[in-house]
Amino acid sequence: MDAKAWAGLIHPAIAVIFVFPLIGVVLNYAWQTRQRRLEIAAGNKKSQIPPTAGREHVNLGRWLTGSVVGISLIALAYSISFKGWPESRNQQTFIVLMFVFTIASLVFLYRARTASWRGTFATLSSMGMIVIGCQDGVFRRGSQWYLSHYYFGITASVLMIVSLAIVPEIYQDRSLGWRRAHIFLNTVALLCFVGQGFTGARDIFEIGLYTPPPT
Ligand code: HEM
Ligand code: HEM
Repeated sequence: MDAKAWAGLIHPAIAVIFVFPLIGVVLNYAWQTRQRRLEIAAGNKKSQIPPTAGREHVNLGRWLTGSVVGISLIALAYSISFKGWPESRNQQTFIVLMFVFTIASLVFLYRARTASWRGTFATLSSMGMIVIGCQDGVFRRGSQWYLSHYYFGITASVLMIVSLAIVPEIYQDRSLGWRRAHIFLNTVALLCFVGQGFTGARDIFEIGLYTPPPT
């Protein structure tokens, strides 16, 4: 294995070692947050679940958004630079700027306070991911989008961005509308993550490990 083959393992390795365990912890706190809220709503003021569960869920959720978007960008950078790097200087500059733009939008999303800025940076960072995903070299499996590692990955990333963007709304909405939307969207995200485990492992088999030319 040479450097290029190892580079292909960066995002699967980070996913397995870091992101999937993190999903487990975030999910555990999500469950506790919900159970505690339901227990209290049912009149049980002495829930055994600690009141910090919600805060822990959000703190680790913020990490999860960055990690999922991060590994998607690493995966896309690998595919574009090794399989679709354009000849034209303008196109090369465009791709590099799109990466800078997307990462900057996510950083601004983390810092944004008002609803309009959060909406703006969530849209910009999601659009950035999609534009990067449209470049040559990315294996999208368009004819089989329902089994595509690419589409599941981008969907999960965008859903994580949306979760980060709507945190204040989840807390402020007394009618629970945003909370329910969050649960629905992230159940979809969870299915996408399970899908990433299957389709990623399949893609390693199917695309095969890159083997360097004999020297
Ligand atoms: C796989 C990912 C995730 C799942 C399955 C998930 C699911 C849930 C569930 C079930 C709840 C409890 C809702 C209730 O009270 O009934 C919740 C609460 C919440 N989630 Fe998530 N979530 C995920 C990721 C995230 C992320 C990435 C963020 C933000 C960065 C986030 C922010 C919140 C907030 C702010 C609450 C309210 C917490 C509280 O009441 O203190 N979640 N989530
Ligand atoms: C949450 C977890 C993951 C996310 C968000 C994610 C995201 C992505 C994205 C966006 C791509 C780009 C599509 C492309 O260029 O082909 C990709 C490619 C790929 N991923 Fe993942 N991935 C995840 C986990 C995994 C895992 C666990 C594995 C393997 C065990 C894996 C193996 C691959 C492979 C083999 C490719 C194709 C690379 C190539 O084109 O040569 N991924 N991933």
